[in-house]
Amino acid sequence: MQIEQIFSIVEKDLQILNTNLQSMVGARHPILNAASEHLFSAGGKRIRPTLVILVAGYTLGNQPITPSHRRLAEITEIIHTASLVHDDVIDECITRRGVTTVHSLYNNRVAVLAGDFLFAQSSWYLANLNSLNVVKTISKVITDFAEGEVRQGMIQFDCKMSMHEYIDKSFYKTASLIASSCQGSAMLSNLQYNEQNQYYIYGKHIGLAFQIIDDMLDIIGSHKNLGKPIGSDLKNGNLTAPILFSLIDFPQLQDLIEHEFENDSDIEQAVKLIYCSQGLKKAKDLAEEHIQAAITALPYQNSISNNENLYGLIMVGEYILQQIH
Ligand code: IPE
Ligand code: IPE
Ligand code: MG
Ligand code: MG
Repeated sequence: MQIEQIFSIVEKDLQILNTNLQSMVGARHPILNAASEHLFSAGGKRIRPTLVILVAGYTLGNQPITPSHRRLAEITEIIHTASLVHDDVIDECITRRGVTTVHSLYNNRVAVLAGDFLFAQSSWYLANLNSLNVVKTISKVITDFAEGEVRQGMIQFDCKMSMHEYIDKSFYKTASLIASSCQGSAMLSNLQYNEQNQYYIYGKHIGLAFQIIDDMLDIIGSHKNLGKPIGSDLKNGNLTAPILFSLIDFPQLQDLIEHEFENDSDIEQAVKLIYCSQGLKKAKDLAEEHIQAAITALPYQNSISNNENLYGLIMVGEYILQQIH
């Protein structure tokens, strides 16, 4: 299977999702409406709804995917988009998905409110799923975002930060939503508790790998247009996996970081050091380990032979790694 085929499996479902999203986020106030619609229309990779739909397809076997699964996929993308609107305020990021960010287009107040509005809308749709377990699992994610962003904010430019803290923070920021969405999809398929958990673990490792690769892309850029500026993690003092690994090889990086890149050429020099170190390779190895752990966690349902959704779930790992090639 080619990597692109992951998206062809879910292509029709994503079309339905895009149409539904437009009608779901309608706000009464025109500014809020424009702000929240802004990023949806710009697109994004839709990786989270893709995972929800693949888990749904796999766990339902030959039955068609249900309206609840679709709604969960939509909720997941709304929550993710809300977190991006807030994250771009915190990171002072100017572009996202190839378009100007909400806070740059309007101002921080509008962006904070637009993000809140999207979180609120997602909660309403979540409650209307009428599945208490799914509500409990997904609503925790919104708390986790805040925890992740606060943790990140507390350790900027701090070279004593450990890899353990980095992984913890990445769990809260990114992996929690992906893990809970996969688990939620399994819950809606009425799977046993232990199987639901296996999808949670799958999503958690996929989410961690996804964040590690995103952190590498912030340094190396990508042949594809990321739709967001690069180098912003270093500037903001967010010490990510490639940087933390590089610090072991080149302790002089510590000086540049602790002086918050005060000279014009400091970022450039830091990037050069990272390239000369083992940092990027070690970060990639770490992402690969998490992808392997994700695949190992997937329950194999013997009764379903040749299920393309299972291949899709496995290939998501390849898709993530392909971002840096
Ligand atoms: C960006 O997520 C934030 C991270 C968790 C790295 P995506 O890379 O999925 O962003 P979109 O949805 O494709 O724009
Ligand atoms: C992910 O982290 C942010 C959220 C999950 C809210 P990043 O800050 O690395 O995301 P990008 O790089 O801005 O997309
Ligand atoms: Mg950011
Ligand atoms: Mg990033």
